[in-house]
Amino acid sequence: MNIQLQQDIQIKNDDSRRFRSEVWEGLSEDPKKLSSKYFYDKTGDHLFQKIMAMPEYYLTKCELDIFQNKTDEIVKAISNINESFDLIELGAGDAMKSSFLLKKLVEKGADFTYMPIDISGNILSVLQENMNQKIPELKIFPLEGEYFDMLDKATYISKRKKIVLFLGGNIGNMDIEEARHFCGEVKRKLNPGDLFLLGFDLKKNPHTILAAYNDSAGLTASFNLNLLTRINRELHADFEVEQFQHYQTYDPVSGACRSFLVSLCDQKVEIENRSFYFKENELIDMEISQKFSEQDIKKLAKDSGFHILNEIKDSKNWFVDSIWMI
Ligand code: AVJ
Repeated sequence: MNIQLQQDIQIKNDDSRRFRSEVWEGLSEDPKKLSSKYFYDKTGDHLFQKIMAMPEYYLTKCELDIFQNKTDEIVKAISNINESFDLIELGAGDAMKSSFLLKKLVEKGADFTYMPIDISGNILSVLQENMNQKIPELKIFPLEGEYFDMLDKATYISKRKKIVLFLGGNIGNMDIEEARHFCGEVKRKLNPGDLFLLGFDLKKNPHTILAAYNDSAGLTASFNLNLLTRINRELHADFEVEQFQHYQTYDPVSGACRSFLVSLCDQKVEIENRSFYFKENELIDMEISQKFSEQDIKKLAKDSGFHILNEIKDSKNWFVDSIWMI
């Protein structure tokens, strides 16, 4: 067996060991918890694509508005065309939004390599195929794995100026404290002059926000429940998925939009030879999608050691891409 393949298998083993221990740990907490970063297997990727296409899910449309219609503003803010750089995207997904920026940068003759990071190898191959078609001149170096492992790899491979993108409101999957820690870690891996561009979903009418996550078609419910199916498949577990129900909340004061799964009966679940007991109506805390005020964003930037260079909003003022510098 060649060395590259052996290394790939090793990484896969490490990932699945980490998945198992995080699931075991989370389900031993009170309240029980699972991490939404594991929503994105093949079915999860597909469900998320469908969520993005729903009329209620405004986030992607808003950020697309920014990347389609305000590309020049972003380019002006991030790039000095004479300096080469690496454009790293955390959680790139299918890179639908960033492709507009990438195209513009290529057209302007910017010297850069695009390094999409994603935990889903499946979506990275979709991305690469799309980019080969859409922007054949683009230099692309995909990195499959956890954000910080891959950010380390990127800074090890290349010493060029870094521009890090974290779009789509992915920062919202952390509570404020976790977000502060996360941004602080990103800062530690970067150098003075490097940039960090983040997409934040802004606080707005609470009905609008709740509707985006409590959709009538039940896609968000399936998206949550799919993690149980994934655990069944990958960790040889026996969740009875029909015995769990999705429940969504939004608290307009804190800006926390949360999803839970509710156990519909007393039940026991085996996950790789460990048993977990669920009481009727017991919750699994599945996901937070944090919403921000402008003040929250200012504070987050300051607390994690960045200053805000520029802020670009969509035409409805529902979403902002905030550009930070060290
Ligand atoms: C991909 C994290 C931005 O929180 O809005 C969509 C994921 N969850 N519907 C979000 C999600 C439920 C999404 N992010």
